[in-house]
Amino acid sequence: MLATAEKTKAAQSLATAASAMAQNEVHLRDLMADEARCMKMIVEVDGMTLDFSRQRIPAEVLPHLLDLWSEVDGAGKIQAMKSGMPINSTEDRSVLHHALRAARESVYRDKDGVNTVELVWGVLDKIKAFSEKVRNGEWVGATGKALTDVVAIGIGGSYLGPEFIYEALRTDKTARESAGGRRLRFLANVDPIDVTRATEGLDPETTLVVVVSKTFTTAETMLNARTMREWISKKLGSDSVAKHMVAVSTNTEKVVEFGIGQENIFGFWNWVGGRYSVCSAVGVVPLALQYGFEVVADFLSGARAMDDHFFSAPAEANLPVLMGLVGVWNASYLGFPTRALLPYCQALLKLAPHIQQVDMESNGKRVKVDGSELQSDAGPVNFGEPGTNGQHSFYQLMHQGRVVPADFIGFKESQQPVELEGEVVANHDELMSNFFAQPDALAFGKTAEECRAQGIPENLVPHKVFTGNRPSSSLLITKLDAFQLGRILSLFEHRTAVEGFVWGINSFDQWGVELGKVLATQVRSQLSKSRKEGASVSGFNYSTTKMMQSYLA
Ligand code: F6P
Repeated sequence: MLATAEKTKAAQSLATAASAMAQNEVHLRDLMADEARCMKMIVEVDGMTLDFSRQRIPAEVLPHLLDLWSEVDGAGKIQAMKSGMPINSTEDRSVLHHALRAARESVYRDKDGVNTVELVWGVLDKIKAFSEKVRNGEWVGATGKALTDVVAIGIGGSYLGPEFIYEALRTDKTARESAGGRRLRFLANVDPIDVTRATEGLDPETTLVVVVSKTFTTAETMLNARTMREWISKKLGSDSVAKHMVAVSTNTEKVVEFGIGQENIFGFWNWVGGRYSVCSAVGVVPLALQYGFEVVADFLSGARAMDDHFFSAPAEANLPVLMGLVGVWNASYLGFPTRALLPYCQALLKLAPHIQQVDMESNGKRVKVDGSELQSDAGPVNFGEPGTNGQHSFYQLMHQGRVVPADFIGFKESQQPVELEGEVVANHDELMSNFFAQPDALAFGKTAEECRAQGIPENLVPHKVFTGNRPSSSLLITKLDAFQLGRILSLFEHRTAVEGFVWGINSFDQWGVELGKVLATQVRSQLSKSRKEGASVSGFNYSTTKMMQSYLA
């Protein structure tokens, strides 16, 4: 049962409704038969339609979810975020990623009263000028050649969002045309294999390296940055770094110490969480270099459009709020520990990896804002894969194994439609046939009677039964272009915030990633001592000692 609001009236009603539903074995087949109910659960906002009628939410439960949102003062919490209150309380920071995509004339103040939008546009103007110079050959490399390729170094929030957007636009006609023959690679993993992959076929003479790190201390990124600095200097000499390396960071001092001049730093601020930073210079620098500033500006406008919707629409018509309440219902009342993100669009192949971080680093928490322990698990495990690929992978489990609430995403029009002569159903229609079929297959299933009616032999009937009653939501969107992509990003970011608000947790810190980093430092120093001085492994538990000895042997 929901911890933060367990004493509220709505929370009690929801808990009662969840157990009544289980007792009465309410099935989605029955819920879907109520068309008046379904009608209320299909919400359209500017060409983006959310259908959550296949969630296990009986008609009378929806108002309780909306009441819960009122009881936790959801609107007030959105307002607190919007107005720059330090809702990231453990770090005493505002949470203002919406300012990153605000219109130039807007005003969003941080906790100290600074208008962050002015700062944002200062950096955006600088990126626009810089990216145009690089793209039109005014800014050249050390040997006078144009910089046609970019390697963006960064990890976590300094990588996943930019790669998601890069991939999503790679087949968009406008972005593709604007990219021309330019190449953008990402270097994230400290695994040396990733260096080989990122630099394969590239020449330092024509490559620009962008080091992206909020702190400029992240071990993996710093090592990769040193590796790439050497890759450039070896061929072009150390003076060439100024022409071939720029940085995106909040830590100017460290960047300068590394050897990148202050004029080549694109800043951002501590009110931008790493996983919410793709609309800052973190994403805008590499993406503007690749696709041009105008394409990125469209993406930012799309994110802004969803922010404005989130800030102004009433709860019952507010897409992030509705999706967040569905998430809370599934995780905290129905007890589903996972959820799947299933875009029927190959260009969204990196959506799930990005949302994994956005959601799991935000809501994978065990205590509430006040430090008290949650009474139940909060954020679910997120995973996903584009359809139809996923259908040939893990859908078996979703249909006949565990119940995994799913979010389907489909588009009315393809980025790259293909028509085959003589084929009645074009490729995109084929894809979308699956997009429409899967949610119904999950919800309705197939009974033993239906199997028998089809003449399935009795011994196979149990194997061919689909119990159904597996919840999902579907989002149908016009077309995946830069603008709609921005809306999708913002929608999922705000869904996570809504869920965190209801659970009463701080979705904007990430202390859980620290311990592993500290232990890795101890191991690193042991490995270095053992390699250099032959020091024996000590200070670790038996198992780690044995494994490290074996590694060093
Ligand atoms: O994984 C932890 C984390 O701190 C993320 O939150 C962040 O996005 C990532 O590391 C990278 O950090 P930085 O941008 O400071 O290099």
